[in-house]
Amino acid sequence: MSETMLAIGLKRNAKGIQEAQIPIPKITKPTEALIKIKETGICGTDFNMIKYDSKDIAEGEDFITLGHEVIGTVEKIGSEVKTLKEGDLVTATVRRSCGICNPCLHSQSDMCMTGLFKERGIHKLHGFLTKYVVDEEEYVVKVPKELEKYGVFIEPLSIAEKGIEQIKIIQSRMPWSCAHPKHRFEEEEWGHCKTALVIGAGPIGFLATCLLRLGGVNTYVVEIVDEASLKIQLAKELGAQYIDARNKKPEDIVNLCCNVGTLDIIFEASGASDLAISLIPYMSRSSIYVMTGIPKGEKHTIFDAHAILRQIVRHNQVIVGSVNSNRNHFVMAINDIKRINKKFNNILDEAITHRFTLSQYKEIFDLKEKDRIKIVVGID
Ligand code: BGC
Repeated sequence: MSETMLAIGLKRNAKGIQEAQIPIPKITKPTEALIKIKETGICGTDFNMIKYDSKDIAEGEDFITLGHEVIGTVEKIGSEVKTLKEGDLVTATVRRSCGICNPCLHSQSDMCMTGLFKERGIHKLHGFLTKYVVDEEEYVVKVPKELEKYGVFIEPLSIAEKGIEQIKIIQSRMPWSCAHPKHRFEEEEWGHCKTALVIGAGPIGFLATCLLRLGGVNTYVVEIVDEASLKIQLAKELGAQYIDARNKKPEDIVNLCCNVGTLDIIFEASGASDLAISLIPYMSRSSIYVMTGIPKGEKHTIFDAHAILRQIVRHNQVIVGSVNSNRNHFVMAINDIKRINKKFNNILDEAITHRFTLSQYKEIFDLKEKDRIKIVVGID
C-alpha cells in the first residue's frame, strides 16, 4: 500500500476548498528530483479558483492540489540529475511543456503555442499545498540559503520580471530611453526618464512596482483602498505615489500622474477590465501597456473601438499580454529579491501579511482581499 500525505485543493464534485489524502510521489525517471516542501505561497489565482469554482483536474483524477509558489529542499535525486544534490534549497516553475510547440521545446513553455501545457496547482497537475513533489530537474531552480524566507516571492516576482522584460524587448525597437548613458535598458537605472502607472497593489502590482522603482521609473500605483492600508504604505516605501481610483474617471487618474503624452508604461496587475480598457486612450505615443491580471466571469463594456484602433496605429502603441514565466525569469527574480531588500530596507518582510500552517487552510481562504498581500503556508 502506498503512503499518503495531506493535500489541500479542489475536488471535482464539490465546491470550496477541500482536503484529501494523495499518494506521496516517488521518483520514476532518472532525471527527476523529490522535493520536501517547506513553504507554499498563496496568490489571487488560488482565491479565484475557489471563488469561481474553476478547476482543471487531470483526467482520471478527482482532485487537484492548489498552490504554485514554493520553497523546499531536495530530498532525493534520480541517477541522471546533474545540477541538484540532496539538501539543496529549491523552488520550481509552474508550467510544464506541451512537448509539441517550438517555444515549449526550447524551455519557453510560458509562450506555449498549443495551449496543451499543464500548470502545477492550476491546470491538470498537483500543486504545492502538500508535503512532497517530484519534478524534472529542468523545472527545479536552486535558491541561495539566505533567501529561504523569501522563497515564495520568487514565482510571483518572476511574473513581474517577465512583464518588465516584455517592455524592454518591445521598446528596444526604437531609441526609447533618453540620451543619458545610464538610462539604457542594460543599465540598472534604465527607467529614470520614464513614468509608469501600475494598476493594482496586490502581490503582482507590488512586485512590479518594486522592479520599476529599482529601475528608477517614476511610478504611480492605482488602487481602490484607503491610503492608510498596508498595500499603499508599501508602495510609498518604494517611492511610488498613490492614486485612489475611487470616484475618479480615467482622465482624472492620468492627470494625477502626468501630462498628456508622458505616460510611458502601464502595468496592469488587477484584472479590473473596465479600468484597464478605459486607460488605453491615455497611453502616450510609442508607449507600452503590459497586461498581467486575468479577470474571471463576464463583463461587457462599451468603448469607442474606432478611436482606440486609430490611436494604437497612429501612435505605434503596443498592448501586450504576459502570462506565466520561465526558468530565466525565476533566476532574474532570485537576483532581484536581494536588490529589492537591499534598496528598500527589507520591504519583502513587511509584505508577508499572513502565516498559516497547512491544517489551517480554511482560515486562509476566508481572508479578505484588501487585507492580504503575501500569505505563507508553513508545510514542514
Ligand atoms: C501564475 C502563473 C500562471 C497563471 C495562469 C498565475 O497565478 O502565477 O504561473 O501561468 O496564473 O494560470
